[in-house]
Amino acid sequence: MRRAVIAYLTLVLTAGAGHTDHTLDLVIYGATGEVGSHVMQEALDRGHRVTAVSRNPAQLAMQHPNLSVVKGDLLDTASVTETVTGQDVVILSVRGVIGDSGSPESALQFIAAETLVDVLFQQGDRAPRLIHVGGSGSLEVEPGVLFAAKLPKILLPKDLEVEILGQILALEFYRKVDDVKWTYITPPKNFTNGPRTGVFRIGGDRALEDDRGRTRVSRTDFAVALVDEAEQARHVRQRFAVAY
Ligand SMILES: NC(=O)c1ccc[n+]([C@@H]2O[C@H](COP(=O)([O-])OP(=O)(O)OC[C@H]3O[C@@H](n4cnc5c(N)ncnc54)[C@H](OP(=O)(O)O)[C@@H]3O)[C@@H](O)[C@H]2O)c1
Repeated sequence: MRRAVIAYLTLVLTAGAGHTDHTLDLVIYGATGEVGSHVMQEALDRGHRVTAVSRNPAQLAMQHPNLSVVKGDLLDTASVTETVTGQDVVILSVRGVIGDSGSPESALQFIAAETLVDVLFQQGDRAPRLIHVGGSGSLEVEPGVLFAAKLPKILLPKDLEVEILGQILALEFYRKVDDVKWTYITPPKNFTNGPRTGVFRIGGDRALEDDRGRTRVSRTDFAVALVDEAEQARHVRQRFAVAY
């Protein structure tokens, strides 16, 4: 009963959330990626100005009056500083593993978190907010047990394991940061290609399951939740989860 009431309230709170009169300047790292491309589309559909960053801008053929495509690399701190200066929100939706140490510190998600926090800290009150697309491995499936601990390591590609652990490390890192406005938005285990419904639940550290025990959301609805957060800043210095 309690769960049903909470589910109802979160559905009511999230359904149709969104549009604002205030046009934002958003930078998206990972706009060429599977998740970031949906975030870019959602932001443009709501009338925001988007700067899409890619190491190879020719990959982004899309044209839109509110879209600028710039070359940039998260491993180049000077280019990050130049790109994010004067923006309202930076969205980080990237993946990769740097080098072959095999350590979680080599996950791009963790390296980029550290770089952006350093850059944004330098910008003081004028710094944009940061929204980091996190990993479901960081969600609890039982009290004190992360989903990552339940994964069959033997079947996981090594780089994916590094990224999963790197995402957990990134969240631990953010949780110690109190002088930059970060948010860690967490997808469920499964992303789908489903439609944009605008109806989903918002949770905290615990993996959200639907009535059939599935943990999933479409990339398009995840993008709705992310752009809602860009507009409304409801989870500053928090992690939150999105799922049906
Ligand atoms: N269930 C889950 O937990 C789950 C599932 C899927 C994804 N995710 C998370 O969602 C996020 C996005 O994943 P995705 O599947 O959309 O990734 P993707 O499709 O593989 O795209 C990766 C993106 O990273 C960018 N990138 C890589 N290295 C870069 C660098 N040095 N500088 C700047 N950009 C760089 C790439 O941009 P360019 O090549 O254009 O430079 C590309 O757009 C990741 O954080 C991932 O961990 C979570």
